[in-house]
Amino acid sequence: MKTTRRGFGTIALGAAVGAVSGTTVFSQKVNAQTRAQHAAGEYDNGIIQLNQNESARGPGPNTMEAIRTHTTRRVGRGYSPDHVNELREGIANYYGLSTANVELATGSTPLLQGSVRAFCDAEKAFVTPMPTYSTSLSTAREIDARAIELSLDSGLGVDLDTLAANASGAGLLYLCNPNNPTGTVHGPQVVERFVRRVMRENPDTYVHIDEAYINYCRPGAIETAVPLAMEFEKVFITRSFSKAHGMAGLRVGYALGQEQTLEKIRNAWGMGDVNMLAAVAALTALEDKEHIAWEAQENAEIRDEVIGFFRSRGYEVPDSNTNHIFVNLGMPAAKFREGCLEHKVLVGRDFPPLEQTHCRISLGSREEMKIALEVFSKALA
Ligand SMILES: Cc1ncc(COP(=O)(O)O)c(C=O)c1O
Repeated sequence: MKTTRRGFGTIALGAAVGAVSGTTVFSQKVNAQTRAQHAAGEYDNGIIQLNQNESARGPGPNTMEAIRTHTTRRVGRGYSPDHVNELREGIANYYGLSTANVELATGSTPLLQGSVRAFCDAEKAFVTPMPTYSTSLSTAREIDARAIELSLDSGLGVDLDTLAANASGAGLLYLCNPNNPTGTVHGPQVVERFVRRVMRENPDTYVHIDEAYINYCRPGAIETAVPLAMEFEKVFITRSFSKAHGMAGLRVGYALGQEQTLEKIRNAWGMGDVNMLAAVAALTALEDKEHIAWEAQENAEIRDEVIGFFRSRGYEVPDSNTNHIFVNLGMPAAKFREGCLEHKVLVGRDFPPLEQTHCRISLGSREEMKIALEVFSKALA
């Protein structure tokens, strides 16, 4: 699929949809309309939401078509939602695994919660860098598990040496790669060295590698750690359809790992039931590599422009491999957030311990970011 550099100045609503072959006129119209409504802030009380790392563009046209077709033909027959098994098989085939290596959930959130419940307690610590995605840490607190929080390195990357050094007696180490909120990433050799060190020095400790944002990584920056999960029983991966696949509202995620590990996670917490429409959408989205490539390219161009905006004004921003950026504004995130909200743009929450200086900004569509950059200028003035 052809992607052209348009910048934020000239916006072609629905152009991407129109460029996809095989979609019906109907699907193009609906997508264009949805995008136009979104651009006009018709949803979310007219507030541009740059606070949750969802996809600004939603599912691709093929996925939308699959949802529509199944809504029309099949949704009254969902008690035996066979597409869920198909999805599990589809994911297994995609990675060359068996279905026993795939655990589906209603978003990856229940997998994060279940893994902490399965592997951590008052003695067996949950070990996490900070700031990172915090659902697992919240779960550790809920169950009164010991929690160890570690600083990032000076470039705001996850400090893998420190993480490995804290594995002794721990139940679970959490590595978000690429990391939310900083957008930093570790390449395959570094991750492999880290995993092998933990498995050698502390073979009883589990390692969770959360690859929710992997599809947004810069070319060559990352490889999935699935082979390590297949080699080591104590390593597992989670993935989400809520990011580049644009399906946050449909709630599908999965874990990849060895059967006995997935069973422990499943037994510790409810994974929810993936419904038929979500399953059919996820299967279509998984196989639509062309759309994911387009989504990643679109996000990358927007990301470059927004990072350039801040860097050209002297603000530090680590290279991001996600659909959000983490900017050192030299002011409290709350102050910037309030300044932006006055102009109907909502940016990310506080990320302790960096909330006095840094703010996370999720990347919206070109239309949204064009408005947002003007708002950022005002809030920074
Ligand atoms: C790193 C990371 N992992 C997991 C999740 C959970 O997403 P979901 O439950 O929608 O799959 C998020 C959501 O923002 C995230 O940022």
